[in-house]
Amino acid sequence: MIRKYSFGHPIETGAVVQDLHCEKDKPRTGKIRIDEKGFTYIRPLEKETAIYGLGETVRGINKRGWQYVSENEDQSFHMEDVRSLYSAHNFILLSDSEPLGLFFDYSGRISFDTGYTRADRLIVSCEHADLCLYEITGESLREICRTFRKMTGRSYIAPKWALGYGQSRWGYEREEDFRKVVDGYRKNHIPLDAVYMDIDYMKAYKDFTIDQEKFPDFKRFVSEMKEKKIHLVPIIDAGIKQEEGYDVCEEGLEMGYFCTDREGRPFDTACWPGLTYHPDFLNAKTREWFGNKYRILTDLGIDGFWNDMNEPSVFYTKRTMEEVREKMRKFLSKPAKETAFFELAGLTEEFSSPEIYKDFYHDMDGTRICHDRVHNLYGYMMTRAAGEAFEKISPDRRILIFSRSSYIGMHRYGGIWQGDNKSWWSHLLLNIQMTASLNMCGFLYTGADLGGFGSDTGRDLLLRWLAFGVFTPLMRNHSAFNTRNQECYNFENPEDFAHVIGVRYRLLPYLYSEYVKAALKDDMYFRPLAFDYPMDRMACGIEDQLMLGEGLMVTPIYTQNADGRYVYLPEEMLFVKFIPSGEIETKRMEKGIHYIHVELNEVPLFIRKNHFLPLAAAAECVDDLDEEDLTLLGWITEKSEYLLYHDDGYTRDYETPDHYRILTMDTEDAGGI
Ligand code: GLC
Repeated sequence: MIRKYSFGHPIETGAVVQDLHCEKDKPRTGKIRIDEKGFTYIRPLEKETAIYGLGETVRGINKRGWQYVSENEDQSFHMEDVRSLYSAHNFILLSDSEPLGLFFDYSGRISFDTGYTRADRLIVSCEHADLCLYEITGESLREICRTFRKMTGRSYIAPKWALGYGQSRWGYEREEDFRKVVDGYRKNHIPLDAVYMDIDYMKAYKDFTIDQEKFPDFKRFVSEMKEKKIHLVPIIDAGIKQEEGYDVCEEGLEMGYFCTDREGRPFDTACWPGLTYHPDFLNAKTREWFGNKYRILTDLGIDGFWNDMNEPSVFYTKRTMEEVREKMRKFLSKPAKETAFFELAGLTEEFSSPEIYKDFYHDMDGTRICHDRVHNLYGYMMTRAAGEAFEKISPDRRILIFSRSSYIGMHRYGGIWQGDNKSWWSHLLLNIQMTASLNMCGFLYTGADLGGFGSDTGRDLLLRWLAFGVFTPLMRNHSAFNTRNQECYNFENPEDFAHVIGVRYRLLPYLYSEYVKAALKDDMYFRPLAFDYPMDRMACGIEDQLMLGEGLMVTPIYTQNADGRYVYLPEEMLFVKFIPSGEIETKRMEKGIHYIHVELNEVPLFIRKNHFLPLAAAAECVDDLDEEDLTLLGWITEKSEYLLYHDDGYTRDYETPDHYRILTMDTEDAGGI
């Protein structure tokens, strides 16, 4: 059941697609305070209550005990003390005796104090009392989640090839670099479906351009890659280079499509290309114009994109640059003092402090509005521009799109990746935990930069990370330009990588089926154990195992030098290990705690009793997958069924009943396993 409350003059975010009437009385679940400080929602917290949700944030799955802030930020240090990352997912769930979901539909900065200031209080506050609050009740956390998801609309469904493995790196510049990657993978028989193109494919970092010196005939190059069954996926950045003669810049200026300053002039920002303008994605006409630009690349054969720097990330503005320079001049004019070092060091932060959000404006279809009021919608609206355009550009075939920044509602248009993580073991754990929270908020097509983006990865870390990435819909290895080469074939015994990634393809019939079904049923693909076993106290405390679809539990290894890990089984399950010989080891296990041994080149998983997985034979790309001849694997003590979703992988006609098949497995078929 949903109750909607409206305060002040809420800004229409488009997050909610259901038409709901507003309650006249006060919210039932917490106290509201509206005063000169803004809006505050306060609710006492029971000692045992766990708090879930908040999507892309640091720390564990249970969000209790910290102050999280939604203020989208280009944040490359995903440390425990960070309050905001790239996205604003203002949905939380409380595991009270009567479970509760709360969605704060507010597009500016909003804070979630989940028992940090006072252990027994949930305090949600924002500066302006203009928002909608949704209270959602239901029998279980999972049901509340489904209600919330139905209210916010069906999650984006990626083409099937985009569930294949992808290689990316900031630093591939020319055709040869891409060929080298593809050859490296194909020669070593490591599966590969996509290679991502970072900013260097463009001419001077200008969106919708190709550097012809590096790609003399891009269209031909795209088809050369297609022949090798490789999809090229270029990046698109939010900032448009200021340059005379650059058509996107000139058109934007002429049509008034850019954000403006106080006086109504195009607002100067800066990003990779140097000085830029930021398209006003909150304006429908701008979205239509920008969305259409993707056609330049789809016409050349491109069928996937990633949208970046759309928090928006602004390196500096003319004002902040001037202010910093002025402070430096003053600094230099004074006699050198040791303590002044701190003054100077702190200056770098002033280039792009959130203060700049007050300096520019949007034209929200006729209403002029300051950026700070709608800051968290920017990446969402950029990706909406793309998503809406793709429905026209490619009505019959899905196009891959995922974004760095997002807000709830964007999950209908695209996925997200989890930003600039580091090659740290702790970030592998963060990836596991964040993925569960993102699923609650509708972001099913998601994954982290496998191996880690910043800093140097290790062979062991990459293998362990890939063994978790095997299960995430977006499975992409991406790294920063100044780090160790992270392509799998650069490490010793590439066959280990071929095996681990190969398991992804073996599991793909199940993973794809569960992914699409979760989207179509407004359900979660990954769930914390607490959602499936709410009465099991032990299960509720588990932060490093996830349920995947109906039948599977994943238990990644995320510590260095470990030869395995402890797992908790909330019920009897079949332990399955994919070993490099291609064989599958299985063992029936009782409910309880067990230690499992897992080598670096093995992939572990658990299947619930009387559930089974359809497995394909290994393949080197999605196109080569044979899905007619499947092996069923499970521990069956009674006749069991599995509803398999299977389509061509690109249709947008998801609801056709033909896409479903019921697979059955009987005890005699397998003699138990
Ligand atoms: C940002 C992105 C990263 C990309 C880099 C260069 O840091 O998050 O993925 O590689 O920009 O485009």
